[in-house]
Amino acid sequence: MKSTNDFLKMKSQGEKIVMITAYDYPSAKFSEEAEVDMILVGDSLGMVVLGYDSTIPVTVEDMIHHAKAVRRGAPNTFVVVDMPFGSYHGDVNETLKTAVRMMQETGADALKLEGAGDVAKAIGKLTSVGIPVVAHLGLQPQLVGVLGGYKVQGKSAEQALKLMKEAKECEAAGACAVVLECIPYQLTEEVSKELSIPTIGIGAGPTADGQVLVHHDLLRYGKHHIPKFVESFAFVGDEVEKGIKGYKKAVKEGSFPTVAHSFTMKEEELSQIYG
Ligand code: KIV
Ligand code: NA
Repeated sequence: MKSTNDFLKMKSQGEKIVMITAYDYPSAKFSEEAEVDMILVGDSLGMVVLGYDSTIPVTVEDMIHHAKAVRRGAPNTFVVVDMPFGSYHGDVNETLKTAVRMMQETGADALKLEGAGDVAKAIGKLTSVGIPVVAHLGLQPQLVGVLGGYKVQGKSAEQALKLMKEAKECEAAGACAVVLECIPYQLTEEVSKELSIPTIGIGAGPTADGQVLVHHDLLRYGKHHIPKFVESFAFVGDEVEKGIKGYKKAVKEGSFPTVAHSFTMKEEELSQIYG
């Protein structure tokens, strides 16, 4: 399994870091077999697998439940787990308790927290006790209510300078990497140059040290809205639709199941029952 040190080395050698989300055993297993560098159990699971319209309803219990399945599917891949909405903003010792529980119950390798400021203090606390932390700046989906929607961040000079300051703050607090979501690629380039820890972009252009995408987005698996910055590398949803419709049709018309799909019993046994 790769370590936070390997990710630093990859950055310094210009090797892109590939991260993908996974939420269950099969998605984790496929990701590990493809030898991705990192798996994220994102709280995006609230939207793509639980059907909520934001990540706000996702609980610590939900994250632990899914992360345990991911760990079983990918025992040898670096797994990062999102701390969900509201679980790391109170007293820092409360945050530590939750973080320790998430690490111990899931077997995660790192946790991810959105934001800087007080969150950078939490990053410092977790790191000091031995929990690797990935920061998450730019568009922070847990702030959607306050932001009034999912919008590109850091477009003005003022916003860009603020983000750069936050990124440095997270690095100084001990973050092992930082996810940059939905920011101009020029800003991604500057942040990536200024930091020694790797940047992992999503909607942040080709200038990040790595890339992360949501499993269901890049595979077109589901009926959800797909953001503009996503590229689809397969069309799994079309296959699922074809499969379910084909199954229904076959049962209705009697072409499945056939005797070939069935179990049988010997004539002599049958005759004892029915004569
Ligand atoms: O929850 C998630 O999937 C994420 C990525 C989009 C970075 O946080
Ligand atoms: Na997330």
